[in-house]
Amino acid sequence: AGCGAVGLDTPAGQTGEMLTSAVPLPAPYRVPLPIPAVARPTGTLGGADLYEITQRTADVEIIPGLRTTIWGYDGTFPGPTFETWSGRPVVVRHTNRLPVPTVVHLHGGHTPSDSDGWPLDLVLPVGDTSNWAHVHNGVPMVGNTIAGTREHHYPMSQRAATLWYHDHRMDFTAPNVYRGLAGMHLVRDDVEDALGLPAGDHELPLFVCDRAFAADGSFDYPSLDRTLRTVPGVEDRYMSGVLGDVVLVNGAPWPVHEVDGTRYRLRIVNGSNARRYSFALRVPGGPDLPFTQVGSDGGLLAAPVRQTALDAAPGERFDVVVDFAAVPVGTEVTMVNTLGTGSTADVVRFHVVRAARDDSRVPARLADDVAPLVPGPVVREFAFGRGAVGDTRGWTINGHAFDPNSSLADIPLGQVETWRFRSDVHHPVHVHLDPFQVLARDGKPPRPTDVGWKDTVDVLPAEIVDVAVRFTDLAGRYVFHCHNLEHEDMAMMATIRTV
Ligand code: C2O
Ligand code: CU
Repeated sequence: AGCGAVGLDTPAGQTGEMLTSAVPLPAPYRVPLPIPAVARPTGTLGGADLYEITQRTADVEIIPGLRTTIWGYDGTFPGPTFETWSGRPVVVRHTNRLPVPTVVHLHGGHTPSDSDGWPLDLVLPVGDTSNWAHVHNGVPMVGNTIAGTREHHYPMSQRAATLWYHDHRMDFTAPNVYRGLAGMHLVRDDVEDALGLPAGDHELPLFVCDRAFAADGSFDYPSLDRTLRTVPGVEDRYMSGVLGDVVLVNGAPWPVHEVDGTRYRLRIVNGSNARRYSFALRVPGGPDLPFTQVGSDGGLLAAPVRQTALDAAPGERFDVVVDFAAVPVGTEVTMVNTLGTGSTADVVRFHVVRAARDDSRVPARLADDVAPLVPGPVVREFAFGRGAVGDTRGWTINGHAFDPNSSLADIPLGQVETWRFRSDVHHPVHVHLDPFQVLARDGKPPRPTDVGWKDTVDVLPAEIVDVAVRFTDLAGRYVFHCHNLEHEDMAMMATIRTV
């Protein structure tokens, strides 16, 4: 590319620089699929369910026989899965026992601004008195920094959906998430509950991300404690993104899971820093097993959609039902990544071990609240591309590097607008606060997997994607940004205000 970046930008939209692990990679499909613990409330606070999470380091075994120090919510990676109920408010009290400031964002949450995880609302480590004030090119950056503990108030005034939570500290989101600060958050409601979709141990969270490992088992990352933009040699090499050669599902390398010959509901999150996947279900000697998409980022679709491949960019979620009764008992069904090569073509395997009775259903009609948004006359264009960030280089939106001190756009609540995203290379664009709908790609109908309420859209190289955006009722300061986390840390983020 013109600016000298050596990272890979393929027409298929895989953007990033691949790191190769310095340890022998384990054979795939040997480690059992872990299921993250479900977070439990510790009490109530002002009528809300109170959860308390400690961000801390832990030593875990990811590559068999090796020790990896993670930074995790409650010391786990992924963090505990929240299961909350639509309309039932939640307070999450996060205490930071890590060595650096952190910020927590609930991705997909309809969250008041002061709980959203503004990138400069730092929580300092417990007992840390050093000055972490953020100065960028001589300008102090504004945030509400507090010591030790922050309470996030989540009204959960939103429909059932697959959300996730992760670190969002300005300039350091990518290394913090890479070290493990991410987990899932499932919102449930009566509508979904009444459908009869597969549930219990027939509903599997699948948090997918890639990592590379250094010889001592630690996560390998080009810069863990300085912003990528400021490390000589690193900024060019990794500005397109960091890719690992190990695919983790729920924190385990290429795991395997024994399943009944019944329907399963898979709640898939692409939690990778930069890696895109195209997921398909391989069956030995047969055609790929189709699956039924029932939901996207923002929850249930109006009606199920049959899919055979799912293109998933960082930040996107897919809620799908797979019927393992379609293959004989004994079959190994492998979820592969057709965009991957070598070790990154493998993801997770399902071994169908027994026939079983199936009481689940996928009704032909899922939800009534996915009517198309009808945009008014306002069209805003946002161009995602390389650009100057102070006196270094990075990524910009409309030529602007992230500026927490000024709003790129003030958006009236209740107004349906068209936002037009233009990209140079691949950028998965994520908008905080409220979901949107994809209207068009290069003026043509969107992809089959763009259906439903989305909050992250996979914008391919040189593509123009139109989405219909509407913020409903919460006024405040928010961000939208590229969810390639290296791009985000290299300033591809914008402040907006809902007014
Ligand atoms: Cu998943 Cu602004 O983030
Ligand atoms: Cu990007």
